[in-house]
Amino acid sequence: MIKTPASGAASRSHDAEPVVARTVTELRTTVAGWRREGLTVGLVPTMGALHAGHLSLVAESLATCDRTIVSIFVNPKQFAPGEDLDSYPRTWDSDLAALREAGAHAVFAPLPAEMYPAGHATTVSVSGLTDCLDGIARPGFFDGVATVVAKLFLQAGADRAFFGEKDYQQLLVVRRMAADLDIPIAVIGCPTVREADGLALSSRNAYLSAPERAKAPRLHAEMQTAARRIRSGDGDVSAACADAVAALQADGFGPIDYIELRDAETLAEVTAMGAEARPARLFAAARLGETRLIDNIPV
Ligand code: PAF
Repeated sequence: MIKTPASGAASRSHDAEPVVARTVTELRTTVAGWRREGLTVGLVPTMGALHAGHLSLVAESLATCDRTIVSIFVNPKQFAPGEDLDSYPRTWDSDLAALREAGAHAVFAPLPAEMYPAGHATTVSVSGLTDCLDGIARPGFFDGVATVVAKLFLQAGADRAFFGEKDYQQLLVVRRMAADLDIPIAVIGCPTVREADGLALSSRNAYLSAPERAKAPRLHAEMQTAARRIRSGDGDVSAACADAVAALQADGFGPIDYIELRDAETLAEVTAMGAEARPARLFAAARLGETRLIDNIPV
């Protein structure tokens, strides 16, 4: 059932049906009602195909904001030609059921024409942080992300927005974008949620065949091995990363886009870890069959 903001968003109880807004006007009407009541608003941007990682962001928003909006929009601008835009999992009914169960207050689910009407000509581009890792492996990806997230921030006018650390580079890019554009929103990073075997949750894990799914946790395992070596003072970061690449290739992963140690704030390359080192993270992206897996861990 689709409800519009006219059905009284601001007075809904926690376990009520979420308001579904299809247009920016409907979303803004809903938020304006909450604002008149003096309520704070959290935003969880997603592309749907919701899993426990997304729901942990929703839980964090519900715990820290009076009202929670979840956006579901498969953003065409962040898919390169030949990527999986058409096959990206779209699971509207189960997403809505999960958000109802979680207690989200509103779902913003615009059509592409609502987000990018004819004549749309503006791209938001963040430099520096996007000059490495997925910024190189997926040209144009972060422009698409920064553009859609800037729009969502301005459309929702939320106080806080929640992003998973699983997409750590995206989190930094979005935080930089909001600060640079003076968008008054706090960008909150939340811990990666993993399967029991270590595989980071991702909507794209649905693409893995059974044998690939069995192999997929090797990525996290090899990253942990490399991180242990780096932490232990072995010091040779590039050898630890190269050995992880070799081990994954031997396991049938490939191509491996990167396994690199980078500064946790600036993403500058880190070549050695000493006692005085700033916080760093190990980043990895690798294909397993047709599925591209990414992960990162603190070191
Ligand atoms: O992480 C995602 O699901 C997407 O990149 C986001 C942030 C919803 C923007 O489309």
